[in-house]
Amino acid sequence: MAQLLDTAHLWMPFTANRQFKAKPRLLASASGMYYTTDDGRRILDGTAGLWCVNAGHGHPKIVEAVQQQAAQMDFAPLFQIGHPKAFEAATALTGIAPDGMNRVFFCNDGSEGVDTALKIALAYHRMRGDAGRTRLIGRERAYHGVGFGGTAVGGIAGNRKQFGSGLTAVDHLRHPLNIEKNAYSRGLPLHGAEMADELEQRLLALHDPSTVAAVIVEPLQGSTGVILPPKGYLEKIRAICDRYGILLIFDEVITGFGRLGSPFAADFFKVKPDMIVCAKGLTNAAVPMGAVIVRQQIHDVFMDAAPADTIEFFHGYTYSGHPLAAAAAIATLAVHKEEQLFQRAADMAPYFEDAAHSLKGLPFVKDVRNLGLVAGIELEGIRGKPGARAYDLFNKAFWDKGLLTRTTADIVALSPPLIISKMQIDEMFGSIADILKTLK
Ligand SMILES: Cc1ncc(COP(=O)(O)O)c(C=O)c1O
Repeated sequence: MAQLLDTAHLWMPFTANRQFKAKPRLLASASGMYYTTDDGRRILDGTAGLWCVNAGHGHPKIVEAVQQQAAQMDFAPLFQIGHPKAFEAATALTGIAPDGMNRVFFCNDGSEGVDTALKIALAYHRMRGDAGRTRLIGRERAYHGVGFGGTAVGGIAGNRKQFGSGLTAVDHLRHPLNIEKNAYSRGLPLHGAEMADELEQRLLALHDPSTVAAVIVEPLQGSTGVILPPKGYLEKIRAICDRYGILLIFDEVITGFGRLGSPFAADFFKVKPDMIVCAKGLTNAAVPMGAVIVRQQIHDVFMDAAPADTIEFFHGYTYSGHPLAAAAAIATLAVHKEEQLFQRAADMAPYFEDAAHSLKGLPFVKDVRNLGLVAGIELEGIRGKPGARAYDLFNKAFWDKGLLTRTTADIVALSPPLIISKMQIDEMFGSIADILKTLK
């Protein structure tokens, strides 16, 4: 089938288009833990699609909810009119959010969620009469999607160099990855919490705290290659933000919905942000959806600042709270509850950790990092060809072993659906071990 397919017209995202089209990797169907390729090969999904199919592919209850909704009402706007499922989805979502985080703004993906959260932060301070707070602080190697806001606070060099830095009033913390001190940490690294102090000592000292609207961090930096916060780091960031009236945004697009064995990373770390951006696992990726969950007090500032017959927040998307997405979210959250998937991920995490660390000592492995059902395996790169070795592993996994992995530079990231079994964990890391022994 691949030979017959005309691949010329699709400009693929975040893809080496010409390389891909020379030998396309095509998926045709999916069920549970597996994809099937267009030529009928079974592929174990080591990445939950793109960190998003947490409940496994094609869950019958989610499929049914989406089918039923499509037949009942395809679309209804959410501007000055509504439909019940959007409200029900917001209620269900706040039902698993940290206490007091009980207002939801819907969008369509993580990038829109990040830009929405940044706009809420800027508007919140203005509405409180603190309009001087215009600066946003992100982190190096952060990924916050591809909107102009997310690109600006993001810190992956390659994602910025074609566009410039976007917003101007932005600065970045350094990322806390320190392989020299923390290599092969099991769970949170012990060294580096003091890196949070630079928020106060370097960035706030430089810009003045009264100019800073928000700090945004991924509790666990996923896309950049699994960078974990050192023990105590996020607590320090929270305390500094509190000290200076700065909003803290957790970008939980990857960590939301059980990836760490709890509803959100905020629960896992017991650090409550002011806003949580989520997407991906919210609908089990069956229909695109993103959301910003905010503390009620932030929402109420908007409500209280304007008369009841005026629009409080001039922001939104045609597809905010889309009926199909809302139906998928309600069904997904119900599936999580019925099947206790957060707990299942937490229970499986130690086995996953042992399996990941069994790769230590194999050729080219220079670090293994893990938390919950996420693992990053950092390889020695080939001189002058960054990313080539991990890409080789990715290709061999797909073609020779029937395994889907994800790579960033020379880091292999694994984040399977939360329904993965011990046998499938063994299969996944066994395949990677075999491939590592063949790499050049
Ligand atoms: C932490 C984080 N934020 C934002 C995004 C962007 O999400 P989307 O691709 O749905 O726009 C991603 C995507 O991987 C992400 O990992």
